[in-house]
Amino acid sequence: MVKTVSIKEVYKRWAQRYENDLPYLFESESEKVIPLLGNVKGKKVLDLGCGTGRYSVALAKKGAIVTAVDFSKEMIAVARKKAKQSKVKIDFRNIDLKKGFPEGDYDIILSMLVLGHFKKTALLFSKISKAIKPNGICIISTFHPHKEGGKLILVQSLGLDARKYRQTKEEYISAINNAGLLFEKFLEIKFSKKAILHAKNDGINIEQYSHKPFLMVFKARKK
Ligand SMILES: C[S@@+](CC[C@H](N)C(=O)[O-])C[C@H]1O[C@@H](n2cnc3c(N)ncnc32)[C@H](O)[C@@H]1O
Repeated sequence: MVKTVSIKEVYKRWAQRYENDLPYLFESESEKVIPLLGNVKGKKVLDLGCGTGRYSVALAKKGAIVTAVDFSKEMIAVARKKAKQSKVKIDFRNIDLKKGFPEGDYDIILSMLVLGHFKKTALLFSKISKAIKPNGICIISTFHPHKEGGKLILVQSLGLDARKYRQTKEEYISAINNAGLLFEKFLEIKFSKKAILHAKNDGINIEQYSHKPFLMVFKARKK
């Protein structure tokens, strides 16, 4: 039976298996997102809702100076372990983004698959805008409104649900513009050819789901 729990509780229980549950989705996303970031060496990066450090660790390994924020101690614990194994230093902060925000002057702010947990995104976009250097960039990914599932995030492997929200492309672009950022790029992410092949090698057919995008990615720049 599927049980509905809080967002924090979902990630508390999901932390250990999170990355293994969605490998083809993550692969297809990062394949498109990493090139949007350019050369990150020496750049100050803020990863909002860093989770298990998928991007934080990858970018720190490329020489970025990373601050990584999440309200889930369990997700951060996995990310810390990965950073240690990769021998990179990351400034992890256990913060609820609805209550606080790390001060700083960042070249790049990322928030991947997090904003779907926010009913209203305007305040977060305005905080992001204040924390980016002029000409710095922000990259946001979120589930596509096409994707089924309505108001709940379903963690199938655990039989857990938690509330989520699905804003449209137009609502995100308007929030970006209202925060004083320049909207630069929009991508729709489908399963990539590489991910389909990797899944096939693992004995899983995801080709049948590959015609519709499942994520939206927005790139914006500070004026
Ligand atoms: C789907 S995961 C994404 C993790 C990572 N960004 C990635 O792409 O793999 C969403 C993350 O957002 C975090 N999160 C959700 N709401 C938050 C909030 N109000 N403050 C801080 N972190 C939050 C969760 O704990 C979780 O780690």
